[in-house]
Amino acid sequence: MRIILLGPPGAGKGTQAERLVKKYNLPHISTGDIFRAAIKAGTELGKQAKEYMDRGELVPDDLVVSIVKARLTEPDTAGGYLLDGFPRTKAQAEALDTSLQELNTPLTGVINIDVAQEELLERLTGRRVCRGCGATYHIKFNPSTVRSVCDKCGGELYQRDDDTIETVKQRLEVYHRQTEPLIAYYQQQGILHSVDGAQEIDEVFQEIVQFLDKFVNS
Ligand code: AP5
Ligand code: MG
Ligand code: ZN
Repeated sequence: MRIILLGPPGAGKGTQAERLVKKYNLPHISTGDIFRAAIKAGTELGKQAKEYMDRGELVPDDLVVSIVKARLTEPDTAGGYLLDGFPRTKAQAEALDTSLQELNTPLTGVINIDVAQEELLERLTGRRVCRGCGATYHIKFNPSTVRSVCDKCGGELYQRDDDTIETVKQRLEVYHRQTEPLIAYYQQQGILHSVDGAQEIDEVFQEIVQFLDKFVNS
């Protein structure tokens, strides 16, 4: 299966991806995670990306596209993958389409996680992420058993630099302007499937699984 998870910041892409890649045994390709790892490692890519991320802006298309293109030629993607947070501009979606045509590997589906704007601010400002394994929590909606400690690996939980109110507002604005048009783009291709992301985490997961189970052998 070659799947895209689409949705605004805080919709639950990462949360659902964590569960979906386990169930379907797919590599999780999150451009946000790739950039955060590069920042942590202090690479040139990290330095470039950080400038944009801290402002809540998108990293330039050419940079993102070349990273994803390279990633999609790695052997672990041969059996499919889950893209999280890419594409998020029309130019990225078109570049991906061209690449996949060349590789003769069409997308299986695009899952749009739909959540109302009012809910997203609370989700993002209350998010906590594990430094060790990257697991995602929420202080109210999905708390760890012990405060600031990851249930899965015992790692320390931290708040992302771009989860401040001002940056979140900017990210939501950027989403509406640059990423939301992709809903219509994939609808036109007939591969869009929207799920109600305002439900409980497990309910959203079940709804996605119901859709994906149809493609298990493709
Ligand atoms: P990225 O890391 O992709 O961030 P994002 O798209 O803003 O999305 P988030 O990770 O914030 O949200 P999510 O949907 O994963 O939600 P989560 O599951 O964590 O990108 C960061 C930056 O990198 C961008 O701003 C940009 O600068 C750059 N970048 C990345 N990709 C790029 C690209 N392709 N092009 C250009 N630039 C790019 O959940 C959020 C919170 O809600 C959590 O606390 C969670 O526990 C909670 N939650 C989840 N589901 C539920 C639920 N059902 N009910 C209640 N709470 C829930
Ligand atoms: Mg995420
Ligand atoms: Zn952890």
